[in-house]
Amino acid sequence: MAARNRMNPDPERAAKAAIRKAWTRGAAAYDHDAGHGLATPAVKRAWTTALQESLGTGPFELLDVGTGTGLLAVLAALLGHRVTGIDLTAAMLRHARQRAVHANVRVEWREADATALPFADSSFDAVISRHVLWTMTDPQRAFREWIRVARPGGRIVWFDGLKSGTTRHAVRQRAAKIIRRLQREPDHVSDHSYPPEAVAALPLHELRTTEPVAALLRELGVTDVSFRLLPEVARAEREGQSLAKRLAGPDPRYAGAFVVSAEMKEQGAR
Ligand SMILES: C[S@@+](CC[C@H](N)C(=O)[O-])C[C@H]1O[C@@H](n2cnc3c(N)ncnc32)[C@H](O)[C@@H]1O
Repeated sequence: MAARNRMNPDPERAAKAAIRKAWTRGAAAYDHDAGHGLATPAVKRAWTTALQESLGTGPFELLDVGTGTGLLAVLAALLGHRVTGIDLTAAMLRHARQRAVHANVRVEWREADATALPFADSSFDAVISRHVLWTMTDPQRAFREWIRVARPGGRIVWFDGLKSGTTRHAVRQRAAKIIRRLQREPDHVSDHSYPPEAVAALPLHELRTTEPVAALLRELGVTDVSFRLLPEVARAEREGQSLAKRLAGPDPRYAGAFVVSAEMKEQGAR
């Protein structure tokens, strides 16, 4: 967690305000981002399979934390689960609501903080999250909350991408910008960049391996953890994208860098 100082008495609160502002700005274009939206039927299928394989057959009572525009929440509802989606940012939730209406599914949406959930202990069979842990000011508190609201024997499913952090990837992203400009490709990339002070408050912002996550879970007494790469998701996300989007997306050497951790919670893990 970010340390308090005289200039900024509550850096965590300030970081969350900056995060909310960034996603309010980025909400409208979010679904067009490479690696975010479910751009093609193949991507949708790959994520549906990832959900089915990591959750098992339900139907379950699910919580999607940091649901954003509700992409995963609505997919899960289409699979027959009873889904609640929470997010810090009202603008993202507005898109989520529309998505559920268009898909003709019922999802409970709540504006809430993933590190202080407004739910009783043991309320859900599973807590899922995608692309969210990296933006937690206190990832351990977040996990503790997710475990608290999951039923004994329930499951925490975590999807994320690992940053390659290589110069090669930075060069690819710069090249993507140039190609987009040259080809006059609409820059459908949502600007949700965080100010440096907010980035500094995020311990897992540059996650390059799954080990820090496994360590956090171990500290919480959770040992039954498995990590799995999802190369089929990465492949589907690359296929059918423009050259610029492929370059801007995850580094192919880290293909399948999306990881799922499915964890059967033990009684003693609170
Ligand atoms: C990269 S988006 C992921 C959205 C969605 N899970 C998906 O897979 O498309 C990150 C989301 O986390 C939300 N968020 C950030 N900090 C949060 C917090 N403390 N509590 C709840 N949501 C948060 C943001 O508002 C944003 O919608």
